[in-house]
Amino acid sequence: MNKIDTLKESYLQTKNQLSDHGKRKANILQDAFQNIDGQMNSDMYGKGKVIEEFQEKMATFLGKESAVFFPSGTMAQQIALRIWCDEKGTKKVAYHPLCHLEIHEEDGLKELHQIKSVLLADKNRVIELDDVLKMEEGIACLLLELPQREIGGQLPSFETLEQISIYCRENDIKLHLDGARFLEILPYYQKTSEEVCALFDSVYLSMYKGLGGIAGAILAGDRGFVEKSKVWKKRYGGDLISLYPYVITSDYYFDQRSHRMGQYFEEAKELAGYFNSCHDVSTVPHIPVSNMFHVHFHQAKDQVASVLTEVQQETGMGFTGYLVEIDEETCSFEVSLGDLYAELPKELVTRTFQLLDEKMMDLRIKTTSI
Ligand SMILES: Cc1ncc(COP(=O)(O)O)c(C=O)c1O
Repeated sequence: MNKIDTLKESYLQTKNQLSDHGKRKANILQDAFQNIDGQMNSDMYGKGKVIEEFQEKMATFLGKESAVFFPSGTMAQQIALRIWCDEKGTKKVAYHPLCHLEIHEEDGLKELHQIKSVLLADKNRVIELDDVLKMEEGIACLLLELPQREIGGQLPSFETLEQISIYCRENDIKLHLDGARFLEILPYYQKTSEEVCALFDSVYLSMYKGLGGIAGAILAGDRGFVEKSKVWKKRYGGDLISLYPYVITSDYYFDQRSHRMGQYFEEAKELAGYFNSCHDVSTVPHIPVSNMFHVHFHQAKDQVASVLTEVQQETGMGFTGYLVEIDEETCSFEVSLGDLYAELPKELVTRTFQLLDEKMMDLRIKTTSI
């Protein structure tokens, strides 16, 4: 087994983990269905009480006229951008270089819709007002991802969002929110969901990230936009005859977890503090602005993998099953706080980080003496 497989194996064998809500097992569905009446009618091709009521609940929560449930955020967002491009009569959108559509969707937007993407800002920071002011002409829609996942979940200030929103409205540019982790940012901004969404023309919200459902997405906006998105949902094959397993689990975990985001945010700051107290370890952002952050190790990936494997084996505490190589001397992994962290014995957390610090210190001595 190579070192990385060992890291994964050691993670899978840990009794406790720092991140998330727990493993993605079938009981996520079972728990959500425990109080569901077996005689409840299924939804049929987007129609029916179960799906329509949840869509209305989400539209109200987001402060938008209307909302529609999609099987995936990938589908929902490509469709949103297509609608805004059609409305303006141009095929150009702008977003961050590490946007999900740019790096994780096999160029769906370009291949399926021939829409061109204009990349704003340096990839290691968020989009600021200045980037938008300098944007080329003819952009139909600007997409902002909050928080910017691939750089540890960084956020612009709320004032910046307000200024970008005003600029877009004045210049006939639609503003779309990639809110895969939207609920997770509200405690930092200290704003309601309606207050943030009011800055955007369309909003996507994921049902399985911080909320921990199985899959699914909500796309919200004005009634005309949402009706058009339903036509595209059918064209994409997203209008499944029944989506109720996803809708019911989404509703269940929304009620269970949407009010816990403040707790995850506080815990993320505490946990980042533990990482930052270790030698050659730092978090991005240094102080988290949501429930997530990236942990950077300033040592080579293989050596860090050995350290983490040992700590995971000795303490039974799971950090990660993978590492991403940034360069020869830096590697990282992602942390997203969920239900698990609050259940960890504090003494175990302290002991684990002491051990991590000791082993990182030993690694530094070893690498500097070579
Ligand atoms: C920022 C962001 N946008 C969009 C998506 C797409 O969501 P889905 O997996 O539901 O297609 C993801 C999924 O990881 C994401 O992280």
